[in-house]
Amino acid sequence: MTITGSTPVAGVVGWPITHSLSPLLHNAWLAEAGLPGVYVAMGIDPARFPAFIESLRGGTLKGLNVTLPYKGQALIAAHRASRRANLAGAANLLVFQPDGTIFADNTDGEGLMAAFADQAPGFDPAAGPAVILGAGGAARGAAVAFLEAGAEVRVVNRTLSKARELADELGCLAYGLDQAADAFTDANALVNATSAALGGAVLDVPLAATPKTTVVMDMVYKPLMTPFLLEAQTLGRRTVDGLGMLIGQAKPSFTAFFGTEPPETVDVRALALKTLEP
Ligand code: ATR
Repeated sequence: MTITGSTPVAGVVGWPITHSLSPLLHNAWLAEAGLPGVYVAMGIDPARFPAFIESLRGGTLKGLNVTLPYKGQALIAAHRASRRANLAGAANLLVFQPDGTIFADNTDGEGLMAAFADQAPGFDPAAGPAVILGAGGAARGAAVAFLEAGAEVRVVNRTLSKARELADELGCLAYGLDQAADAFTDANALVNATSAALGGAVLDVPLAATPKTTVVMDMVYKPLMTPFLLEAQTLGRRTVDGLGMLIGQAKPSFTAFFGTEPPETVDVRALALKTLEP
């Protein structure tokens, strides 16, 4: 594709950003669809994030995906936001309107549910309790997605007070890590939304206390099979990985940027897996 003065540009902003898989996904879809467009990664220093967003108003870019640590700030920077972004308290998608305003959305919950649908066929999120491990931004997004899908949600966190705070606000139940086995009883879904793996720590929870039918998910996708998912598989549980969620949140983002759904004819998961191989 030749890049011209009228080529639509979109991207992803975060800090750090160089390991983002989003450019790979979006540019593969653009190439497959034969659409004009380019999608780039932008690493912005925290001190410059508000000025950066302000400078893009009016349509320099079609829009941006937003990743750590800016999802909360992105929501605040927007003039309008979707209900799901307000509920999550975070935006992973900003759309720059021609009138200079910014619209914030959050497609992470949609991505989470798409990952379950793809990798655990027949999974019904409303069929039983969903247990969310963690009480940070990622956990909040997952809790909102399951509440919106009609599930009872149980938040389990190392720091019980943080679980209580989140649970009180959203209308769900709170547990400490020492009560995890109680929360796991009759779980329909179990989602690891902690950052334990990112810090190299192994999350010590009694996975065997879940019923055999629990579908176990980890939001982390580096490595794709986290120790948490490997243990779940060893116990015979069905598992869902974080790459499915990443692709699931990217699809509606692509539509918001480029005005058409991404083509199904390119296997972006296979492309991403190649880059994740050690
Ligand atoms: P994010 O916004 O990405 O969710 P965060 O707000 O820093 O990140 O939240 C990280 C979550 O992972 C927290 O719930 C944290 O537990 P605490 O509230 O007790 O800090 C959880 N977490 C991080 N490392 C953990 C570990 N080694 N074991 C258990 N939970 C951990």
